[in-house]
Amino acid sequence: MRQQTFKKLAPPWALTEIAIKKGRQLARKYKAREDLVLAGVYLSDCVSFQKSKGGFKRVRNHEELSAKFAEKYLRKWKADKKDAEIILNAIRAHHEKVRPLSKEAEIVKHADCFKFLSLEGIVAFMHILGERNMPLNKAANFAKLKAKEKLGYISLPGMKKEANKNYKEVVLLLNSISKIAK
Ligand SMILES: [Fe+2]
Repeated sequence: MRQQTFKKLAPPWALTEIAIKKGRQLARKYKAREDLVLAGVYLSDCVSFQKSKGGFKRVRNHEELSAKFAEKYLRKWKADKKDAEIILNAIRAHHEKVRPLSKEAEIVKHADCFKFLSLEGIVAFMHILGERNMPLNKAANFAKLKAKEKLGYISLPGMKKEANKNYKEVVLLLNSISKIAK
């Protein structure tokens, strides 16, 4: 995953680290297999961009492309078949297109959401958008949309309170930025 980030084919590492921290915490909270959760989080976005004229562009269906990329390595590393199935489903289900079939996959989806449902994640994301030369006001609006989208993905009852609280903090920060940027 780190190599993919260096090649600019995966999201910036700062966001991955936030999801990893949350994944570790949630694996303990819900008594899930931490190794499978971390593998799922690390590999979820391993194919997110492709080279295009003048830079990189986001790929469509990055969940499936990431799963296919990860599958080659899981086979090469001789991962247990059932474990590999859980990891691959977690990758495919880390947004809303595919249903998570295990507790671990459900946690991977939630950990990914906290990239945008946390102040540290939003600050990192705003920094990334700044590096891409996106105007501040546009970046704040984009980050708000991402946070709202992720809030809609939260399905574990035990996570709704924290997600809602974080969402409110994120919106407050982004609204303040929007006011300054006008
Ligand atoms: Fe993703």
